[in-house]
Amino acid sequence: MGRIVGNDGSRPHIDGVSCVPRSIVLIGFMGTGKSSVGRRLAHATGYPRFDTDQMIATALGMSITKIFAKLGEEDFREEESIVLEKLDAQQPSIIVTGGGVVLRPKNVARLHELGTVVCLTANLPTLLERLARRSHRPLLETENRAATVRTLLRERQPLYEQAADFTIDTSSLNHDQVAQSIQDSLALAD
Ligand code: S3P
Repeated sequence: MGRIVGNDGSRPHIDGVSCVPRSIVLIGFMGTGKSSVGRRLAHATGYPRFDTDQMIATALGMSITKIFAKLGEEDFREEESIVLEKLDAQQPSIIVTGGGVVLRPKNVARLHELGTVVCLTANLPTLLERLARRSHRPLLETENRAATVRTLLRERQPLYEQAADFTIDTSSLNHDQVAQSIQDSLALAD
């Protein structure tokens, strides 16, 4: 678990060599559990957590739903790129992104500057079940949510695959298991 030790303020070491740990950047479709897993990772590592949706809402003083309704998706995307630039690449953090962050290639490049990019996925039935519960996602406020999810997934799947350093299928895992799996994978990747 080399990258995520040293929360007592000491500089982390791997095999006796001092190193600066990298941030963990979570990407993935809506409903893959990025926010909940991000909270658990922040707790486990002691790193601060930054959620780009929350940063955007704070910067614009409006909920994501209001931003989409009043300003439109393009302005939201612009703000998404701006908040990524504001994050400190030197500060080991847990960075939680919105599902559409991969739509802009420059965002993907920035995510790699920031840290290790972990993509959370889930199979379609699992996603539909999870997304049926909530309605704070403007892109899913359509007549046929399942069809919208399928279309968006088809468009974005290749982008997630290209952007990810590694991917974790969360379909049959709870949030703690996903967080643990990420920590295990990072330890192996050292
Ligand atoms: C979006 C996902 C949302 C939020 C916005 C747009 C998307 O974040 O950024 O509603 O384009 O997939 P979550 O992935 O946290 O739901």
